[in-house]
Amino acid sequence: MGLKRKILELHKKREAVLKGGGDKAIEKQAAMGKLTARERIISLLDPDSFHEYDLFVEHEARDFNMDKKILHGDGVIIGTGTIYGAPVCIFAQDFTVAGGSLGMMHARKITKIMDHSLKLKVPLIGINDSGGARIQEGVNSLAGYGEIFFRNTLSSGVIPQISVILGPCAGGAVYSPALTDFVFVVDKISKMFITGPEVIKTVLGEEISMEDLGGAKVHSEITGNAHFYAKSEAECFEQIKKLVSFIPWNNIKKAKAFEPKEPKSEYKVSEIVPGDPRQPYDVRDVIKGIVDDSDFFEIQENWAANIVIGFGRMNGETIGFVANQPLVLAGVLDVDSSDKAARFIRFCDAFNIPIITLVDLPGYLPGVDQEHMGVIRHGAKVLYAYSEATVSKITVILRKAYGGGYIAMASRHLRADFVFAWPTAEIAVMGPEGAANIIFRKEIMEAEDPDKMRKQKVKEYKEKFANPYVAAARGYVDSVIEPEETRKLILHAIDVSDSKSVFLPQKKHGIPPF
Ligand code: HXC
Repeated sequence: MGLKRKILELHKKREAVLKGGGDKAIEKQAAMGKLTARERIISLLDPDSFHEYDLFVEHEARDFNMDKKILHGDGVIIGTGTIYGAPVCIFAQDFTVAGGSLGMMHARKITKIMDHSLKLKVPLIGINDSGGARIQEGVNSLAGYGEIFFRNTLSSGVIPQISVILGPCAGGAVYSPALTDFVFVVDKISKMFITGPEVIKTVLGEEISMEDLGGAKVHSEITGNAHFYAKSEAECFEQIKKLVSFIPWNNIKKAKAFEPKEPKSEYKVSEIVPGDPRQPYDVRDVIKGIVDDSDFFEIQENWAANIVIGFGRMNGETIGFVANQPLVLAGVLDVDSSDKAARFIRFCDAFNIPIITLVDLPGYLPGVDQEHMGVIRHGAKVLYAYSEATVSKITVILRKAYGGGYIAMASRHLRADFVFAWPTAEIAVMGPEGAANIIFRKEIMEAEDPDKMRKQKVKEYKEKFANPYVAAARGYVDSVIEPEETRKLILHAIDVSDSKSVFLPQKKHGIPPF
């Protein structure tokens, strides 16, 4: 056979595989408002940058008539490409081929591209659209998942791992995403659950829809399993591109720097925080008043909204922000917000992204619910994550910093490099009302007019402790600053801590309160 005919043969073979599960299955996919796996990759990556591997891989299953089934590409596409010029490794499960279910060769393709991403030290993006372990392949499918989970863990903290949920993902198909750094979901398309509605009905006799069990809203608002929620696949791909522009390729390289830009004039930090400590405000406006071009990329916006996390840039470089949100539950730390903050702090630390912490909180949330849900264990994660982090840590106390909240939110005692406080800061063991009620209880009870006495004692306490100067007198706060000076001082602090190095005791690894 001459070269020309061999090339024709190659084209024919390629065409057959590119059809995926065939026209009917593709029509079904489109009817659900879903792109095909290949369309997704092409939409996400830079034009003409995608290079596919293992196109001709075939499954080896023989049981349950599998020997008669052709599963093109074994239901998954793998390859490399770029996003805004940054290299990435990618896989996308093809639901049109056996429901994107994971058999042995399907898993081998995924682990091959995972090994590549770890060796090449570039981000891994997994587009998940799968019914989970391929039932006909039994333990081989389970082995495949085990191999994937192992690699997710090995890569953790070395390369960023991004998961996109674009279909009904069941069983093993959700545990790999759970081990990755960022999970993206799309309204009506994404479903994530360990056991589906059928199993729940059989075992528990309860009826529930897939959407209510594990739809996009459930995971971006209730469980916190998802980090980004989008209305459409197109919007989701834009979010992924934006994330990739903020994060480094690996734990050695720095994220790409952009042209520095001043914040927009409508965000004036001195005009955002009300003087009355009981008045709420949106802390995101403060962040926008600090970061380049007021461009703040929020993560997990709709879950545990009492804390705000996300990326911005300062002097063109990526910075991680952690900020109490007085708009929601007065910005308290609770079970979920502690988990949210701690995981983000660890991501920033692993990838050498400086952390700026904005503090305004009355403390940890009191109550039986929180105690019984383990606020001690979860809250300890914040203490652990900040203490362990060796990246530059810069803290600005805007208003309230009471009790455990003061310590937990990147205080000097957990080794913040720079601690600034606005003149409105109140640093104390607890709020003035609670404190006065406890330490002056006797005087208040015995007074002729207990109410008047309480007010007087609250005033006395406020004058003594509800300010930043007691902490500044001990050096716990480095400078009391005007709000308008915040950006300038943070820029300087980042600049001077560029070569920061910290010596830690030798150990295999710590044991965080997971
Ligand atoms: C083999 C599967 C499959 C699976 C789907 N298919 N899931 N084949 N193994 N796990 C096949 C279907 O037979 C069908 O093939 C095609 O994919 C499309 O599936 P439909 O059911 O027609 O699609 P839909 O109605 O959209 O429902 C999607 C679904 C449902 C919700 C995902 O298929 C489903 O519930 N699948 C099983 C989910 C599950 O329990 N997986 C195992 C998890 S255990 P044809 O040929 O008819 O087109 C697991 C263990 C690992 O993952 C745990 C590690 C911790």
